[in-house]
Amino acid sequence: MSALDPTAQSPILAHGIYPYLAARCSPPDELLIDLFAETRQKFGERSVMQIGAELGALLTILTASTGARRAIEVGTFTGYSSICIARGLPDDGHLLCCDVSEEWTSLARHYWKRAGLDGRIELRLGPAADTIAALPAEPVYDIALIDADKTSYPIYYDLLVPRLRPGGLILVDNVLQNGKVLDERSQDADVRAIQAFNEAVAVDDRVQAVLLAVSDGLTIARKL
Ligand SMILES: C[S@@+](CC[C@H](N)C(=O)[O-])C[C@H]1O[C@@H](n2cnc3c(N)ncnc32)[C@H](O)[C@@H]1O
Repeated sequence: MSALDPTAQSPILAHGIYPYLAARCSPPDELLIDLFAETRQKFGERSVMQIGAELGALLTILTASTGARRAIEVGTFTGYSSICIARGLPDDGHLLCCDVSEEWTSLARHYWKRAGLDGRIELRLGPAADTIAALPAEPVYDIALIDADKTSYPIYYDLLVPRLRPGGLILVDNVLQNGKVLDERSQDADVRAIQAFNEAVAVDDRVQAVLLAVSDGLTIARKL
């Protein structure tokens, strides 16, 4: 199977293997299980916005194993992904969270405190593009997660690349759009935005990128 082969197939993903592998990742601890349940109880169907447990484990692994000290997250919701990233940081590490919702992030704040991570996490409320644009355009971040409004992904990405140190990672969630990225005639604005975003990242010579079939698709782009 070649990366240049447009007919490339995964020998395993086609066989319903995903539930098997998702169930064989390190399980979330009691705090994350409580956060998952309380998000569902308070915000109902909106809770589907939370990342999956397997992606959460991957975020902690990537943050910790790259020795990241400074992280930034675009799209915090009730805090699941932020806790997973912050847990991979050292005690004096820092995670900047960007979101627009006071209501949703108030639950995140509660869980940051309970997790003992509130000293490591800073929240800035407001449109993330404004928040990031106001940051110095210096390469200080080691790792970034994009998981907010899909049509703005290219904006977030282009604002974040210059702020990432060489070797730093940009992680981008939902890049498969539940498989709808395969529909070239899709009229869905989110799907169209992600299709264009995926095309652009694949030929972006500022990064080395891989699109993984984790959860709803995760792109990992390493700044060169
Ligand atoms: C998919 S959820 C994030 C889920 C989160 N990563 C988690 O693990 O629970 C998307 C979040 O993006 C936020 N958002 C939407 N538009 C935004 C914008 N323009 N600027 C900042 N945040 C935004 C929403 O308020 C929402 O909390």
